[in-house]
Order: sequence, then structure tokens, then C-alpha cells
Amino acid sequence: MRILTGIQSSGVPHLGNILGAIDPAIEMSKKYETFLFIANMHSITTFQNRQSIIDNTYACAKTYLALGFDTDKNCFYKQSDVPEVAELAFYLSCFFGYNRLQMGHSFKDKSESGFIDNINVGLFTYPMLMAADILLYDADIVPVGKDQKQHLEFTRMVANRFNNAVGENVLKIPISMVQENVQTVPGIIKDKEGSFIKMSKSYNNTINLFETDKVLRKRIMSIQTDSFGIGDSKTPDECIVYNLYRLISSKDNVSQMREDYINGGVGYGNFKQRLFEALTDKYGEAREKYISITNEEVDVKLKEGVDKVRPIALAKREQIQKYLGLRTKP
Ligand code: ADP
Ligand code: TRP
Repeated sequence: MRILTGIQSSGVPHLGNILGAIDPAIEMSKKYETFLFIANMHSITTFQNRQSIIDNTYACAKTYLALGFDTDKNCFYKQSDVPEVAELAFYLSCFFGYNRLQMGHSFKDKSESGFIDNINVGLFTYPMLMAADILLYDADIVPVGKDQKQHLEFTRMVANRFNNAVGENVLKIPISMVQENVQTVPGIIKDKEGSFIKMSKSYNNTINLFETDKVLRKRIMSIQTDSFGIGDSKTPDECIVYNLYRLISSKDNVSQMREDYINGGVGYGNFKQRLFEALTDKYGEAREKYISITNEEVDVKLKEGVDKVRPIALAKREQIQKYLGLRTKP
């Protein structure tokens, strides 16, 4: 069974990405062989600064390596190192209706919000490149966040159309594995109504674990809280600090913190310090590893990865070209 998933490299991964997507992907890769790639071509649909593209690619790769992704047992590569994926994306786009693609949510949301002039064709055809990422390697299972569900439906649809058109099951129909039970990690600031907002790089409310202790601690100390005094009883479920702490600390520590909120006598500075310590305990090793990995080491790992997967991509390309009548000789 082949598991495959991609990560769009559009920023330094934050705590929300790590708890919501990266840690679960690494857990899964311990059980099943996993193809994991950095979707750097996808990132240029929205991000076009050369240095940022390079920096984000390294930041994503280092995050996976630091958190323990085993590149010997699995395949770890960069999307742009396998150019056949762009070729397959074009073939697939000839088997998918323009009207249907207009229903793609990222395109639809942007066009409906009046940003139509800022939408490039790459963003419009984004789902075809994603389908190619998956179909080029005969992936069986694709773990994704809820927001990617529709892209997986498009992938299955276009693969079926292609197979029907050529009269043979050339493309494997993948199954999506949507991580429904992953909790949304809250960002460090609430909205105007006082509700939690998802931690996201778009809202500038993230925690970057790979900063120095000093910067990380300052960030934790800046988490928004209410104005109850030390002696007051507090409401843990409504507090961002508690809600982050319960995602990373042990059951006993979380119960202790909960009690301290309710009983009063402990201030927010103390709770924040506990959160800081829980983060540095849980991710201490990963944080050290992250800064010790050089870009050259990442390049070596990604080269090993592409050497493993490119032959698979080339064989698939040959098969697809044959069925399309683009290759007449064996
Ligand atoms: P961002 O919202 O920062 O742009 P992405 O959309 O690139 O993050 O998300 C990449 C992955 O991380 C997705 O699988 C998504 O479900 C997961 N993820 C992002 N933010 C959170 C969060 N706050 N809580 C849980 N999972 C998250
Ligand atoms: N679009 C995905 C995201 O934003 C990243 C991605 C690109 C992907 N290609 C993929 C995920 C193929 C799974 C399979 O999260």
C-alpha cells in the first residue's frame, strides 16, 4: 500500500501545521511506506519571491527531518525535481471540464471575493497539478486536511475519465484519508467577538517553534488573555494558553493546570511559563536538530528521494503516453 502526501511550502511551518498535519503524517510513515514531497511548484501560484521560495522549501524540509521523518524507509522529495508531474497535469487537464474546474474552492472563493484580476491560470489549474502529484505514483491513500477534500474528489474524477477514455485502468483511483478528528489549534489572538481563530500564517497569529528560546518565550508571553487578577477564579476553556497546553502536555499536568485556573491564586504569567516549558520539553530535541541541519544536508536527502521516485514517474509517463497515442514505438 502506498501512502502519498504533499506539503505546500508557503511559509515556515507553525505549531498548527505541526500538530494538525506534520506529526500525524510522521506517525503514519512509521507504519506504512510514505511518499512525502514538498509542493514547491504549487507555492508559486500564490508566492513569487525567489528567495522566499528557496527559504520556505528548506524550512519545510528541515521541519520534517527534525521531527523524525525517516527518509531511508520512506521517500522524501521535491515536486519540481520530477518534471513529469507538470506534463501529466497538462494531459489530465484535457480530460477535465473547464466548468467543473471553475467550481474549485480556492478559485471560486477568490473570484467571488472580487480578486479575479489577481488570479493566475496556475491557481485555476492547481487541482490538475495536485491530481498529477498523486496519479503519477499510483498512490493508494492520500492523507489530507479537510480543506483538501474537494481536490481529492477532482483527482478521482479525472482519473476515472481518463481511464474511461483510453478504455483501460491505467490510473489508480486513490482514496483520501481526511483527518476529521484533528483539533484546530487556536492562534495566539482571539477575534473581536472573543472567539478563537485558527492558527494560520494568513492571520499572523502563529507560534514558530524553531525560534530561539528568547523569541519563543516572548511570543508565548504575548498570548492574549482576559484581565482576571491572580486571586480570581479563571475560565480555562475560554483561555488560549490552556487550550494550547492541553494539546501538548500530559494528562496530569493538564488537570493540574485546570484546577489552578478554577481555584485562583495563580496568574497568567505562570500559566504561560508552563506552556513555554511544555513546548520546549516536547520539542526540545526537534528544535536542536532543526538548527543543526544544513541546507546541504537537505539537498542530499532530497536528491536521494528523487533518485528513488523518478524511475516510477518515468515508467508511468511512458505508459500514459502510449495510451494517449503520443508514443508509437515501445
Ligand atoms: P495555513 O493556514 O497556515 O496557511 P496550511 O493551509 O498551509 O496552513 O495548512 C497546511 C496543513 O496544516 C493542512 O493539512 C492543515 O489542515 C494543517 N493546519 C493548518 N493550520 C492548522 C491549525 N490551526 N490546526 C490544525 N491543523 C492546521
Ligand atoms: N494542496 C495541498 C495543501 O495545500 C498540498 C498538496 C499538493 C498535496 N499536492 C498534493 C497534498 C498531493 C496531497 C497530495 O495542503
